[in-house]
Amino acid sequence: MNDTFLKACRGEKTSYTPIWMMRQAGRYLPEYQKVRGNVTFLELCKSPELCVEVTLQPVDLLGMDAAILFSDILILMEAMGAPLEFHEGRGPIFNKTIRDRTALDNLIVPDADEATGFVMQTIRLLRQELKVPLIGFAGAPFTCATYLIEGGSSKVFWETKKMMFTNPELFHALMDKITKATILYLQAQARAGAQALQLFDSWVGVLAPGDFADFALPYVQEIMAALQGYDIPLIYFANNGATLLDLSVTSGADVIGLDWRINIGEAIKKVGKKAVQGNIDPFALLLPKDQLRQRIGRLLEAAKDAHGHIFNLGHGIHQFTPPEQAKIAVDAVHELSSR
Ligand code: CP3
Repeated sequence: MNDTFLKACRGEKTSYTPIWMMRQAGRYLPEYQKVRGNVTFLELCKSPELCVEVTLQPVDLLGMDAAILFSDILILMEAMGAPLEFHEGRGPIFNKTIRDRTALDNLIVPDADEATGFVMQTIRLLRQELKVPLIGFAGAPFTCATYLIEGGSSKVFWETKKMMFTNPELFHALMDKITKATILYLQAQARAGAQALQLFDSWVGVLAPGDFADFALPYVQEIMAALQGYDIPLIYFANNGATLLDLSVTSGADVIGLDWRINIGEAIKKVGKKAVQGNIDPFALLLPKDQLRQRIGRLLEAAKDAHGHIFNLGHGIHQFTPPEQAKIAVDAVHELSSR
């Protein structure tokens, strides 16, 4: 097994810098489109054999050093009892929003092996095939809560912040329930064979540091604490989180994910003896080859004092990215970091 990724997560010396890309299995790959042409997104998420196929695609085609389980952060919300729909071009929709006590009481904390057995089955099958480590994941409670409260994606998060500031008890009760479900879900993923776990906090960057500390971080800490016994690296990615970094470092994660808005060298000074993951602008993949390689070289140099660096994009790969460009990036990271 190529365990370069796991070594970097633990801050051990590696012969090169490992790379994977958030959302590496997905629409930018024609091979994904082909599988997706025959099924809906949710059908795909619930078919272990197909999930295995699309998880392997970026590893085989592009040479990634880690695989990320193909699924979605909202699969767990559906298992908690929130009916989920995906509409082409509109993203996820929850028609039953969670905005009062009754709606919250109707959500359950499911047994993960029962309610999301297809995810665990995907993990078990993947472990038989993979020659690189497998990353499992969940959404962080704040990000999941925004989808349930807003009923889908949002830009202003009006309903979320309204609940936080006018009914904090209800907000905390929702966060608590999502946290309990997430712990069971990630523990089941670890038992099924996930070799690292990442929490995606895509929208937490809309919070002021004090509100992050009061309303979001304690739940991330609770999840990280509940996963300590599994002895696998834990990654926390707070998108748009540069201003929250001092706090994120206390999350209990072993690896801090960084978006592209922060200089990686400065971030490394703040995270101390933790590994970092990131952080090239996903759109930098559109640069001409020599400029892309140059930029990657500069990023590797800026990260040279890290206690472990996993190269990644600062957020998910955009769906219109040419796969050849992603391949140029993977090869450049491997070549330029080789030591
Ligand atoms: O990283 C991977 O390759 C693993 C798969 C993965 C998906 N979603 C597949 C997916 C992961 C890790 C996610 C996480 C996820 N899902 C996040 C956090 C990461 C981030 O990007 O911030 C969020 C916020 C979601 C919720 C979600 N799922 C949205 C908002 C959308 C719609 C996106 C859009 O542009 O339409 C999805 C759908 C989704 N999840 C797709 C994929 C491949 C596209 C579905 C399709 O094939 O049509």
